[in-house]
Amino acid sequence: MEFSDLTAPITPAEFLGRYRKGVCFFVRGKPAKFRDLVTLQEIEDRLNEGCNLSTPMQIIKDGQRHALVNWNHRWSPLALRKKQIKEFIETGHSFMMMNMSQINPRVARLLDAIEAAFSDDDLHADLHIYVSTTRAASAYNAHRDYPQHKIYLQVLGHTQWCLYEAIAKLPPEVVAIPEAEEDQKLHEVARFTLKPGDLFYMPPGVFHKIRNVGGPRVSFSIPCSPGGEGTERVDRTFIPFKAIFEAEAAAAAREPHDVSVDADAITVAHDRWAL
Ligand SMILES: [Fe+2]
Repeated sequence: MEFSDLTAPITPAEFLGRYRKGVCFFVRGKPAKFRDLVTLQEIEDRLNEGCNLSTPMQIIKDGQRHALVNWNHRWSPLALRKKQIKEFIETGHSFMMMNMSQINPRVARLLDAIEAAFSDDDLHADLHIYVSTTRAASAYNAHRDYPQHKIYLQVLGHTQWCLYEAIAKLPPEVVAIPEAEEDQKLHEVARFTLKPGDLFYMPPGVFHKIRNVGGPRVSFSIPCSPGGEGTERVDRTFIPFKAIFEAEAAAAAREPHDVSVDADAITVAHDRWAL
């Protein structure tokens, strides 16, 4: 998906024009617009890697996210507590996965295209995948994200959004408001539902709350933050390992050579080196 496919039916120039105004806006899309970006199988595969992680998936519980990991494994510095995670997902908890910008080549290409489109502002993008498996799934408390701009894609299912303004100025360290304090601290200014194919752009610092409605959902949240001096971009080059391997295997099959094992040689080696 190119940047122009992402912004359609408006043009990239119109999209960037709205972005520069510093306000929230929608781009409503056809239901299948984002459907080919990711498969449930790809999400399941990543979820089950378990040990091969740089950042763990996180369960959304009690209005916040929680990494359920063990740090003291012999063979991995970070391993998911998968039995517990499975139970939380089965009991209606949403989850999120960071660092998914290379979950497949289609997504990697889209993230590269987004970074190129915002290169004047040195924005660096990541992909956070949010998944709910039930209608009444858990979700974050109202919160604001800073300094990232947010491009949010409704891939599957629906989400209901509320946007707020603070009733009185809040200190910058206050980023989330518990539901019990919402009425005293926040004033609702917009409420809307995103359906599959919709895009929503949100500038930094907007208080928002998202709830799952209608059934299971998959959402892409694409935070874009200034990289800062010397920060490198993620290298999303696709490595065609399978093609390389299969080409070599085909070449080897055309020119077979003897790979039979000399059992005596193995015995000699074992006798010499066994402790
Ligand atoms: Fe957020």
